[in-house]
Amino acid sequence: MTDIQEKIKNLNKIGYLDFEVDPTLDLFAAIENLKKEKNAVLLAHYYQEADIQDIADFIGDSLQLAQKAQSTTADIILFAGVHFMAETAKILNPTKKVILPDLRAGCSLADGCLPEEFAEFKKKFPGYAVISYINCSAEIKAMSDYICTSSNAEFIVNAIPKDQGIIFAPDKNLGTYLVKKLNRDMVLWDGACMVHEIFSLEKIMHLKEKNPNAKLIAHPECETAILNIADYIGSTTGLLKFTMTDDAQEYIVATETGILHKMQEGSPHKTFIPAPPNNSCACNDCPHMKLNTLEKIYLCLKYELPELLMNEELRLKAKVPIDRMMEISKKAGLGG
Ligand code: 13P
Ligand code: SF4
Repeated sequence: MTDIQEKIKNLNKIGYLDFEVDPTLDLFAAIENLKKEKNAVLLAHYYQEADIQDIADFIGDSLQLAQKAQSTTADIILFAGVHFMAETAKILNPTKKVILPDLRAGCSLADGCLPEEFAEFKKKFPGYAVISYINCSAEIKAMSDYICTSSNAEFIVNAIPKDQGIIFAPDKNLGTYLVKKLNRDMVLWDGACMVHEIFSLEKIMHLKEKNPNAKLIAHPECETAILNIADYIGSTTGLLKFTMTDDAQEYIVATETGILHKMQEGSPHKTFIPAPPNNSCACNDCPHMKLNTLEKIYLCLKYELPELLMNEELRLKAKVPIDRMMEISKKAGLGG
């Protein structure tokens, strides 16, 4: 067996191709060439590192990326994001080859909601409609009535009759935000995003005192205490658009740091301060999103591996609630 075959065989164990990449190679040019040669599209989430955002064909939030994955005519979708996003792309566009640079790129929300436990949870609330945040596995999607993202969650909840109870999973923070905002009867799965629950209220208050003109903007995956003092709450795209249209000059940004790249690009003269975490690590960098690198993207495109494969029965079941979400979003003019 050649060295290459050996490494590819090992892929299942380590999740990515660990070949040495020639350090003199111009990765930007090499990736561009491979994209053209293979008719591949590179989709990237806003939480990717700046270089990956710069070489992507399309950057978006979860909803926009799902919409793009559904409509693309490329033969290959290279997903620079996390596993549930690549799964969603495969569910929506099964004839395309979907590849992602590192299979280990999970998500604390998706990983904290296992199908067997969720099935038990569901049994406790017969007659309730199930809305699952898109940050969950295909198995959880298949057990749901609707999928939502942070940019369409309010529309999806409002699509359920007012007198019907709702099970909302797996993000309790987004769920709590929706319960308060929409005044609905919802039972929440006890999950959270490891990045958005790490912000320190005390340090943010201190930062606000030091920068009295700075507005605090926060993603609804943040804890209630942070959302309570936020000047604006919105999805990744919502936050980005807000900074481009609002007239403040300084913002404390309570979400993953990757978005600061586009915020700074969109408003070069404004100041963006990442909200501080409750310890000294770089915890508001998502460790899953940041597993992707230019080197891994190059190797992934070159060998078309790792590939996201899915059982057809599961795919069809998981597609039903996603299709409902796509339809509601389209009617509401969301994403795009
Ligand atoms: P959105 O991109 O939909 O705002 O979601 C944020 C997130 O945490 C993605 O993993
Ligand atoms: Fe999951 Fe949070 Fe990372 Fe998004 S930022 S992928 S919700 S862990």
